[in-house]
Amino acid sequence: MDDIDKIKQKLDIVEVIGQHLQLKKAGRNFKTNCPFHSEKTPSFVVSPERQIWHCFGCGKGSDIFGFLQEYENITFSEALKDLAARAGVKLVVSPARSQKEKKQETIYSLNHLSSQFYNYLLLSHPAGKIALDYLIKQRKMTIPLIKTFMLGYAPGNDALTKYLIGKKKYQEQDLIEAGLVYRRGIQATDFFKNRIIFPIFDIRGNVIAFSGRELPGKTTGGGKYVNTRETAVYIKGNSLYGLDVARDAIKKEGKVIIVEGEFDVITAHREGILNIVAVKGTALTENQITLLKRLAPKFTFCFDSDPAGTEAQRRSIQLIERDEIAATVIKPSQGKDPDELLNDAPALFKKALKNDVNVYDFIIDSAFLEFDKNEGEGKKNILEKTLPYITLIENEVIKEHYLKRLAALLEASFESVLKQAEKIKSQKKEAPIIPASQLPKEEIKEAYLLSLILQSDNPKAKLVFARSALQGIPLSTPSFEKILEYLEKFQQDTPQFSAQLFAQFLPVELHASSDTAYLAPLPEFEDGVHYQREIEKTAIQVRIEAIRKKIGKLAESIKISEQEKDEDKIKTYQEEFTKLSKLLTTS
Ligand code: CTP
Ligand code: MN
Repeated sequence: MDDIDKIKQKLDIVEVIGQHLQLKKAGRNFKTNCPFHSEKTPSFVVSPERQIWHCFGCGKGSDIFGFLQEYENITFSEALKDLAARAGVKLVVSPARSQKEKKQETIYSLNHLSSQFYNYLLLSHPAGKIALDYLIKQRKMTIPLIKTFMLGYAPGNDALTKYLIGKKKYQEQDLIEAGLVYRRGIQATDFFKNRIIFPIFDIRGNVIAFSGRELPGKTTGGGKYVNTRETAVYIKGNSLYGLDVARDAIKKEGKVIIVEGEFDVITAHREGILNIVAVKGTALTENQITLLKRLAPKFTFCFDSDPAGTEAQRRSIQLIERDEIAATVIKPSQGKDPDELLNDAPALFKKALKNDVNVYDFIIDSAFLEFDKNEGEGKKNILEKTLPYITLIENEVIKEHYLKRLAALLEASFESVLKQAEKIKSQKKEAPIIPASQLPKEEIKEAYLLSLILQSDNPKAKLVFARSALQGIPLSTPSFEKILEYLEKFQQDTPQFSAQLFAQFLPVELHASSDTAYLAPLPEFEDGVHYQREIEKTAIQVRIEAIRKKIGKLAESIKISEQEKDEDKIKTYQEEFTKLSKLLTTS
């Protein structure tokens, strides 16, 4: 046992953190307001069973050492000394650099090397030709842009694994910990295959992760985009795509434009719009807000105009109102994303940029687009989609302005709208910060299902139940599916499920995902029956979503084979299509 384990065994996390914060019992965990970001309802959770803490607001989390480091702003060695003294453990050696820091440095250099390798393949190797053609001809990228953003290409033949292990003599384990490689059976294999690679940099210019987009016609089954899983240097929702390149321009303009995707950022650069970053298909998180507000006081959102984009935008707005940031929204016309509009009609986009609207006008306008103001039910829906945001406005004069505008548009009296607003304000707790906001759209349901299973009294039994509702469909998020597979394999002697033993049983790369699932706040359920029903309902939703996705892909394949006039393929795909469609109607 090393010093760290000894200290952990002697000290209880609830006591250590309890000396600094008022912890309240909440189910099997403890809760309090997070000391690392501003909030009014507690999302900081401490688990005595697992001896870890996690904040669902800001995404931070670790063990007693990490807590003290963060709380007292000290280095790992200092935290180690402090806690060793408290535990009465004599330190054998005082480590100059922590294990964690060493691990992080290894991952940074691996990522850096990989980004150069992928970039070389894209620009200078025949293997990257199709990808390069696609980028230049179809996505209108240029060589300087590809260099600025260090875009790359990952081929399908485990080239990276061979390069890093064979040529550069790195250890397989390090590649796995960096999320670049995973083990399939006994074989190590590349995580990114047949994909265009976008390195994700932190603000200091370290490569912290990668995003990979599939090539048209080369569907790999993993989804259009896949991203590096969380590692010792990458936490989803803590970074923004393009921030390192955009940083100076954001400062200079005093404004940051926030979009959804990588291509939106890069195409904007081509058109001379440099103060732009992407959230990668999620709502803005508190950590991202912290990063951005140090650079500029004004945020301008330009998300996709689909319902998911609108919802992500609404959620982002809710968070920034608390930070008193001036926020506006650009509404690019024609239902296109910024990348498409910038390619088709850059002047239109630039005009939209100049005509950005206040976020509250956006909130009101999008609600009126969604519902019919002439019907009673429609009026009610519009109020529900707008008042929770408008009541957040701190400035009373501005708030009144929007309530008046809302009343006028609804053809209702100001007094009745105001009354309704006051009702909402008194009912409303602070907007719950849900971890879902940090996840890509499709992972949210699966994360919830995983939490329901892991946090139940009998996870193994609940898993059997969920699997039967899933009817053979695996979870599409690889880390979640793996955790379930490990749970299936997990043998234990004790009749009571031990979260601690299960965590030890999991490989280290799954720890972050399982910790989050284990601590995610769940709604209160009346009893076991309702809990079980929620598992069933969620599993069915996950299954339907998976089938829908498959059907979508098949439809594309059918289209392609029709163009190729490949009768055999068309027939096979169509049969499969019919089979799946039937599954949907019986779901
Ligand atoms: N995204 C992701 N992981 C997913 C799905 C989406 O990280 N599984 C992110 C990507 O950054 C993507 C963004 O969400 O750019 C928006 O998704 P979408 O609108 O589906 O894609 P586009 O940005 O339009 O991608 P493209 O232009 O390449 O087709
Ligand atoms: Mn697009």
